[in-house]
Amino acid sequence: MLRHFIEPSDFDKREYDALFRLAADIASNPKTYAHACDGKILASLFFEPSTRTRMSFDAAMYRLGGQVLHLGDAKVSSLAKGESVRDTLHIVDQYADICAMRHPVAYTQHYAVDVLKNMPLINAGDGDHAHPTQTLADIYTIRDQKGSWSNLKIGFCGDLRYGRAVHSLFEFLNDYDDEFVFIAPKGLDMPSNYLEQSTCPYEEVDDLQSVIGDLDVLYMTRVQRERFASLEEAKRYQGSYLLNQEVLNHASEDLIVLHPLPRVDEIDIEVDDDPRALYFEQAKNGMYMRMALILTLLEAKYENSRE
Ligand code: CP
Repeated sequence: MLRHFIEPSDFDKREYDALFRLAADIASNPKTYAHACDGKILASLFFEPSTRTRMSFDAAMYRLGGQVLHLGDAKVSSLAKGESVRDTLHIVDQYADICAMRHPVAYTQHYAVDVLKNMPLINAGDGDHAHPTQTLADIYTIRDQKGSWSNLKIGFCGDLRYGRAVHSLFEFLNDYDDEFVFIAPKGLDMPSNYLEQSTCPYEEVDDLQSVIGDLDVLYMTRVQRERFASLEEAKRYQGSYLLNQEVLNHASEDLIVLHPLPRVDEIDIEVDDDPRALYFEQAKNGMYMRMALILTLLEAKYENSRE
């Protein structure tokens, strides 16, 4: 069966559990998986800048023994001549076995996925909407550190309006028994459509220091300046939060600090050496989870072709 990973809800709890266990096994026994994707090709279609997601998909496929086919800069592809993303995907479907795609316009992957006959599509970020493989990096780190995805108090801090990583992590955790604290300046609050879906208790505040002591997980985010109508508008919010050692002194020793990265100015580099700061480990964990995801989606595809 050709399966895609476009939204966190595309996998159920049992499948997330299996993905976590597979990723943990890959991290512990990398040599076992070194040829798991021999002869397979991942198409990497990034229509928006990326360091971690793009490179971790590349690293994931190479570490599984596969190859990566890059669209490269959209300006040197036929998109520059007016070809649609849909047609581009239709073509790439005939060249690659699996595809990771990022696009600046929300829901592009949802709109284009039905042209695919051969390759599973992985959403590597669509506009301000979703970033489900970032969620994989986040949940691996949470479970690795806390042992569970339930019974946690999670603070989301920063640009909750445009932060797609926040939206997808919220959607995942909302299926568990957690508590949320949304920490944002007015104007960058968590969108009401997410709040209306919340089955977990939540509060909305604008001050980080007054709530940090209650949190098990603090999820920091940058102001997503590329989503604002103008740079001037984005600059009004720049510097709303700064997590430094002084603020962290109000937190529990068991807090973990996550950030999807890139960081701009919301976490002081002095925090990097604090054992509670796990954002660089989180980026590494994202590679193992993407390896597990590639294997899982390819296995589903070839199981079907053997039927
Ligand atoms: N976290 C994340 O999506 O980073 P990149 O934009 O560098 O891929």
